[in-house]
Amino acid sequence: TPVAACDFIVFGGTGDLAMRKLLPALYLRDIDGQLPADFRVIGVSRAGLDSDGYRDKVAAELSTHVPPAQQSAAAVDAFLRRLHFVSADADGSGNWPALVDLLAEAPQRIRVFYLSCAPRLYGPISRTLARRGLVSEHSRVVLEKPIGTDLQSARDINDQVGQVFAESQVFRIDHYLGKEAVQNLLVLRFANMVLEPLWNASAIDHVQITVAETLGVGQRADYYDGSGALRDMVQNHLLQLLCLVAMEPPVSVTDDGVRYEKLKVLRALRPVTGQLSATHTVRAQYEAGAVDDRPVPGYRDELDGAESATETFVALKAEVHNLRWRGVPFYLRTGKRLDARRSEIVVVFKPVPHSIWPGLESAMTPNRLVIRLQPDEGIRLHMLAKQPGPGGVRLRPVSLGLNFADQLPDRTPEAYERLLMDVVRGNPTLFMRRDEVEAAWQWTEPILHAWHAGHARMHRYPAGSGGPDAARALIESDGRRWNEDHT
Ligand code: BG6
Repeated sequence: TPVAACDFIVFGGTGDLAMRKLLPALYLRDIDGQLPADFRVIGVSRAGLDSDGYRDKVAAELSTHVPPAQQSAAAVDAFLRRLHFVSADADGSGNWPALVDLLAEAPQRIRVFYLSCAPRLYGPISRTLARRGLVSEHSRVVLEKPIGTDLQSARDINDQVGQVFAESQVFRIDHYLGKEAVQNLLVLRFANMVLEPLWNASAIDHVQITVAETLGVGQRADYYDGSGALRDMVQNHLLQLLCLVAMEPPVSVTDDGVRYEKLKVLRALRPVTGQLSATHTVRAQYEAGAVDDRPVPGYRDELDGAESATETFVALKAEVHNLRWRGVPFYLRTGKRLDARRSEIVVVFKPVPHSIWPGLESAMTPNRLVIRLQPDEGIRLHMLAKQPGPGGVRLRPVSLGLNFADQLPDRTPEAYERLLMDVVRGNPTLFMRRDEVEAAWQWTEPILHAWHAGHARMHRYPAGSGGPDAARALIESDGRRWNEDHT
């Protein structure tokens, strides 16, 4: 069913995110019939374009960023007719009157202000919107991550936006929550009976969460060098995944239940401060190497050889201090320029406490549940079976596998498709509440301080490798290993 009539205003409307993700997502929703006739998309940025110029630019970008099977000249034309462009600046200069006039044509419509720009502009844009009388009770604002660079700056941004928008109007996006495979975690845990009774410290030994990328920092060095992997990926995406794995069952998804449960997990995380960061965290930067047999430069070469203490890889051991998870470490790792693009959650169960086959103790490898988030979403449960044959019992590792594309061949929507429509519908479940973002910073910030104080040295890894040796040592010193089985 179509969503309500809406003016969808994208600040940073000519930027990378808008072109690669936001407009393609709106286009894909349009061809699925979800945008009503009076749904407009208004790009705003400092680019000196008019609406026709914007349409040309978007048409060119859609042809690269929309899968060929979804491209149709007629559908693209229809989508382009929804587009408008206003050249204006965050501080109120430029052609704001044109935006005011455009929006005045439909004062009752839902207005979504999507701030796809630097977080330091969230406050100034909100104030300008208020000053120009553009914010009504039907308005919503969407904030991209990272919100701030530490707890204080996140609070400041939230305060500034909060002076204009009520918390119920603020949608803090973490696009990982829009991924089908991530939403499926809730279904896997709470719509099946076989896992939840085992989902705790009595049956689970530890959990691994890996988000590995082959991409380097490339064009985004300006942003990335001031951020690094801990702020860019761990503070948000990886902690959100950890929360979904670790949280208690919410009473219901229709109220704020999921967000409350995630917040409780964040608050139960053991602080990693000072000296603890030396044993619980690894930070590293990539050097020149090869990805897919193609030579690629090192991180500092991408910054024109500048010295940089920014990490492009993090591994860490997180501990959730609550009744369910006491003693079950969560090992997290993420990095750029690794050997493969792979995101997965691996739940490693405890060993069977007693072997009834004398001598086979060492062959009794623990069960492992691998939840593959991307690419090739799927689930694989590693088990043991009897090796067929007459000569006594020999144990053989086997696995039960589910590949989603085989059993659920529907097109998997992009994360942003679901999330953008949720904003228009006013459904906040998959967005982060203010207290959640701030709790995530509260846990992340001491790690940054400890690094700054020199507690954990910077390691190096060649681009295209599996990451630094120190990340292996982090888990192996606990007698465990990262999952290497990617079947
Ligand atoms: C973004 C980060 O939030 O997520 C990027 O800023 C990262 O650095 C990206 O590459 C990863 O998203 P995905 O959907 O490609 O896994």
